[in-house]
Amino acid sequence: MKIIRAKDYQDMSRKAANIISAQVIMKPDCVLGLATGGTPVGTYAQLVDWYNKGDLDFSEVTTVNLDEYRGLPKEHPQSYWYFMNENLFSKVNIDPAKTNLPDGTNLDTAAECARYNGIIHKLGGIDLQLLGIGPNGHIGFNEPGEAFELETHCIDLAPTTIEANKRFFDGNENLVPKQAYTMGIKTIMQARKVLVVANGKAKAQAVKDAVTGPVTPACPGSILQLHPDCILVADEEALSLL
Ligand code: GLP
Repeated sequence: MKIIRAKDYQDMSRKAANIISAQVIMKPDCVLGLATGGTPVGTYAQLVDWYNKGDLDFSEVTTVNLDEYRGLPKEHPQSYWYFMNENLFSKVNIDPAKTNLPDGTNLDTAAECARYNGIIHKLGGIDLQLLGIGPNGHIGFNEPGEAFELETHCIDLAPTTIEANKRFFDGNENLVPKQAYTMGIKTIMQARKVLVVANGKAKAQAVKDAVTGPVTPACPGSILQLHPDCILVADEEALSLL
């Protein structure tokens, strides 16, 4: 894993956006795997800024997102579709027909996972997958203990993830959905390039375990040590235990 040190959140965001920009410029019709959460917000803002300056063109880009809460409709302000629309899709010239997320309102788990896997396969896989990392080492919503060989599947959120994400639901854990659809580790590992972003002290242990710990489902991010082209862009605090 290649590690790029950033001074702070803004520096991390700019460096990550640079890597994504390079992908879009080198292959305008690339497939970008996108992530939600607080960490990539600055990265998307930087991409939007460069788009507004005329430096980026998303017209041929296709996107597939990592995950979506099961049960939340697109219009829910905490759905990942809503997040992507707010932070990126509505702000650049991406074709809405080329943006893909799991459908949280399809409660037929088998059908929804098959549909989403079908999309990714038909696209020929992912050129660059952006990832955040959970405080417990999760990637996408692949929680500790998940089998590495899965594609899109439905998971029960770990109590610590519900706790970490309740900040987005008025601080009320009862409002946080308890399940999500997520791309599996197999799908993530098949991406041709993986870009992980991490910032802040709360991620230091997860980053340490993912980068230097044993490769184990106990820390899903640790599998990335085996990816042939994985870049971690992290700030000083997130790298403080390495
Ligand atoms: C969420 C998302 C992940 C994200 C992670 C970290 O639960 N499903 O894709 O990477 O947790 O989120 P944050 O960047 O807000 O710390």
